[in-house]
Amino acid sequence: MPVSYEYILALGTNVGDREQNLARAREGIARIAEIQRVSRVLETWPILIRAQARFLNQGLYVKTPKNPSEFLMLLQSIEIELGRKKRVKNGPREIDIDIIWSSEGLVETSVLRIPHPFNRARSWIREIMYELAPETIDVEAKLEWKKIQGRSIMNIHDFAKKKEAGEKITVVTCYDHAFARLVARTSIDAILVGDSLGNVIQGNPNTLSVTLDEIIYHTKIVRKGAPQTFLIADLPFMSYQTRVEDALYSAGRILKETGADAVKLEGGSFVVEQVKKMVQSGIPVVGHLGLTPQSVLAFGGYKVQGKSVEAAKQILEDARLLEEAGVFALVLEMVPEALAQKITETIRIPTIGIGAGVKTDGQVLVLTDLLGLDPDFSPRFVRKYANLSQVVLESLEKYASDVREKNFPQEKETFS
Ligand code: KIV
Repeated sequence: MPVSYEYILALGTNVGDREQNLARAREGIARIAEIQRVSRVLETWPILIRAQARFLNQGLYVKTPKNPSEFLMLLQSIEIELGRKKRVKNGPREIDIDIIWSSEGLVETSVLRIPHPFNRARSWIREIMYELAPETIDVEAKLEWKKIQGRSIMNIHDFAKKKEAGEKITVVTCYDHAFARLVARTSIDAILVGDSLGNVIQGNPNTLSVTLDEIIYHTKIVRKGAPQTFLIADLPFMSYQTRVEDALYSAGRILKETGADAVKLEGGSFVVEQVKKMVQSGIPVVGHLGLTPQSVLAFGGYKVQGKSVEAAKQILEDARLLEEAGVFALVLEMVPEALAQKITETIRIPTIGIGAGVKTDGQVLVLTDLLGLDPDFSPRFVRKYANLSQVVLESLEKYASDVREKNFPQEKETFS
């Protein structure tokens, strides 16, 4: 029986007649492989060099007797045949044909790596995999692609679309470049540069001391690590409560200086005017109700909110007011599940819960909490998906002991 390999190819083009380039690439590929499935065409923004035209991308599921190395050479000859010119790396191109998946699993040669190393950083690749091969396992995430939901959030309207489609929205906080690069390689929908950085990064007992400049600094470095992920930045304490003008000034600085897509503020009726004015000025705003940490002193601690009938009514009313004022999503923190459900069913914009049960339209967690970086912090609503504190402690002790025993560095870690 002849050997047969299956591949998924990703086509990309942003020079010349892009539709025609895709059609010619499909014709060329059909000469060397049987095309079994074709994805829809997606228009995408360039990632690494932003100042160039948008790409048209398409995925193909193909079958061929050619092994990965042979197939790669044939694909490269099709690129040349279609007039691909040598230009700057990641720059404009007539056609790009990448092998992004193979029935052989992980393939690593000196010239080829499958899955393609950029797979995880490109949301359109996830969409193609989801569309063409939902049952296959992503070797990096070790999950079926159908579980790594493909459709990514590009702008504020996608939040509402996810709610309408019943797709859960996934958000994590992030404060630095290194973690932002990792988050950007996952299917997480959005990053929040939360003022929780006051606790997590600065070691303060609450978020009140965080300044606008600090939020701007952290949001800028997160944006560098996650250039395409939807990015929300918190308006810190007293940067918006004081006056509508202050809210506009603070939010304006965040958007202008950081590349964030939206800002988040805390509170209900008393911030409605600020929300209206920001939304009228073109600033996308996320609301935040329930346990709003900037009011922790007034609450007398980090306590579940909305437990009494009156308190629940007030939060529901605030949610309605914020929706009317124009927020495009609403964080609900530490409220009873029944209240979160009622709000989620009442308003049309999506709710993003933290300690608010499973009925909200999405969830947000503090990154360091979900990664288990702080062994002394385990609130009930957090699930620790890793035990990074243990990994860090063991690694540091191993390093120290290797240095003391002259076991590090060795020859391979030394220049001659
Ligand atoms: O600052 C933050 O991290 C937040 C989340 C907890 C929602 O506001």
